Amino acid sequence: MSEQPSEQTEEKSMAGRTVLVTGASDGIGAETARTLAGHGATVLVTGRSAEKLRPVAEAVGTEPLVADFARLDDVRRLAAEVAERTESIDVLMNNAGGTFAPSKKTADGHEPNFQINHLAPFLLTNLLHPLLTAAPDSALVVNTSSIANLGGKIVLDDLDYENRRAIEFVAYGTGKLMNILFTRGITQRWSDDNICASAVHPGPVGSSFGRDSWIVGLAYRTPLKRFATISVEDGAAPLIALALHGPDPEINGRYFSRFSIDGRENKQAHDQALIDGLWERSAALVGLG
Ligand SMILES: NC(=O)c1ccc[n+]([C@@H]2O[C@H](COP(=O)([O-])OP(=O)(O)OC[C@H]3O[C@@H](n4cnc5c(N)ncnc54)[C@H](OP(=O)(O)O)[C@@H]3O)[C@@H](O)[C@H]2O)c1
Repeated sequence: MSEQPSEQTEEKSMAGRTVLVTGASDGIGAETARTLAGHGATVLVTGRSAEKLRPVAEAVGTEPLVADFARLDDVRRLAAEVAERTESIDVLMNNAGGTFAPSKKTADGHEPNFQINHLAPFLLTNLLHPLLTAAPDSALVVNTSSIANLGGKIVLDDLDYENRRAIEFVAYGTGKLMNILFTRGITQRWSDDNICASAVHPGPVGSSFGRDSWIVGLAYRTPLKRFATISVEDGAAPLIALALHGPDPEINGRYFSRFSIDGRENKQAHDQALIDGLWERSAALVGLG
């Protein structure tokens, strides 16, 4: 497939394909789940609140899968529950995330922007590797990153900000930068398993983004939101386009800014020692061999 993902997606069918969408209870994840189900995909949805997830689950014809990414044991249980529901995954949309106050450590003792945006989806994706390799053709992992990656800074020896001050938006940007490095890690390690990966910035979306953050929430709650953001439908469109496009060497390991391949990246995004080091340290932190 040589074409790039495009906005012209109306006629593409996902019949026979299974998609798992994380962060499906709200925003662009909910929109992506509903739209892909409309294209005929079997869609599984996960979020941290069963109550909030239920209307989306009902709309796509499934039961909610509940997991709080601030609890790695929830992620382990989620992976087991997904494996009970399906034998294979064609598209994994790692979309759950947001900005969080760094002082509120997760149940596992990690800085929350690091765990919720990177470590939890890293663990989930690794645990779902057998289901991704079982996809009848190839599988695609789509990681929702952000332009905020430009302001991130990965320090391998201090992923949890124990020796430096964690500033919320920098910690968020670092998590989103990790999404790009993780994408490259998947490409380098799993291409022989027929698994592709892409990362994508959806644009400045007027979703519930920032609800967990006093500072970012302030910006997204002011009247400015109307002028500074795009709709949830428009924000979900690049994710949907990637899922409909499917696995393809042309998009493998690439970071999209909406529909543009080669979005602007932090200079750390191509640092091979960081790509390898982040993978190895993340694996050690979540207890993967
Ligand atoms: N909005 C933007 O401007 C923007 C820009 C660039 C990138 N992004 C990225 O796009 C993705 C989706 O964001 P959005 O704009 O759709 O925001 P959103 O409306 O806030 O949706 C975020 C989703 O992630 C889930 N989530 C948050 N914390 C979680 C946790 N601890 N465990 C499990 N799920 C959790 C939320 O669950 P609840 O419903 O329970 O809160 C919700 O389903 C995020 O990764 C975000 O970083 C957004």
